[in-house]
Amino acid sequence: MTGPTGDRKITNAKAAAWDGLGSAYWNRAYDGGPSPAACAQYLDGTARGQRVLLVGASTVSLARAALDVGAELVVADFSAVMLAELAVVLPGGAEFALVDVTRADAPFDATFDLVVADRLLNRFVLAELRAALRTLTAAVRPGGLTRLSYRSGLYERDRVVLAEAARRGVLTTVFDEAEFDVDYSAAAPWLAAVLPRHGDIPMAALIDFYVARGREHRIRPGELDELAAQVVPPGVHYETAHPPVPGQGDDFLFELRRLT
Ligand SMILES: C[S@@+](CC[C@H](N)C(=O)[O-])C[C@H]1O[C@@H](n2cnc3c(N)ncnc32)[C@H](O)[C@@H]1O
Repeated sequence: MTGPTGDRKITNAKAAAWDGLGSAYWNRAYDGGPSPAACAQYLDGTARGQRVLLVGASTVSLARAALDVGAELVVADFSAVMLAELAVVLPGGAEFALVDVTRADAPFDATFDLVVADRLLNRFVLAELRAALRTLTAAVRPGGLTRLSYRSGLYERDRVVLAEAARRGVLTTVFDEAEFDVDYSAAAPWLAAVLPRHGDIPMAALIDFYVARGREHRIRPGELDELAAQVVPPGVHYETAHPPVPGQGDDFLFELRRLT
């Protein structure tokens, strides 16, 4: 496993978006979750000493909650800045891995009792989504769980941005309806007029962040089961469920219990 400033070279251009914001994403008056109830749901059944892989160093409340239940925590992220800034605030005991989970050479073996991430799946295009599902489910031991929360359909923020794009006659520059993908990068010149705030992050920094995040797929009902079925290796079987995340509107938890 690599350390917070590890030796695995990150080539994914989207990592720059997260490096650019770093801890400003979660410590500037942002209370976007996951809430304590959501953290409890994601970690339900996790016992002291179990191995938990959290993907997303920005999800600080979940990292803390995992340590609180006594898990042996590994936090993976493709942003060296996010990992380093989480390391500063965690009470210790976690291991850090600089990893792009959309890459085929992600280093995890099937030893984790739980692999968990909060709305990571919403940050991908379809090819990335398939690759990440392959990597994350492969990290779980037989009998273990993968729990990946996701927002179903368009975000509220997307609706506002798409409405403004339609008003300007440029909807297809930010929304690929056939793929069901959004990409705010073409909206940079006018995004400030409609973009909701994120904590107290300055608007210019927020726009740079969304532009650098690039294209993202929005998830349709039933789609994740189909994608996961496409990437399961022969002889491996999962049982899946999609419980709603408590108190978080359109968010669900994609839960895969590895049977064999
Ligand atoms: C989990 S997602 C969504 C944000 C989440 N809802 C939260 O509260 O933090 C954001 C985190 O995932 C990381 N991330 C995004 N894509 C990644 C990838 N392909 N591999 C590893 N980490 C990734 C980002 O650097 C960021 O720290």
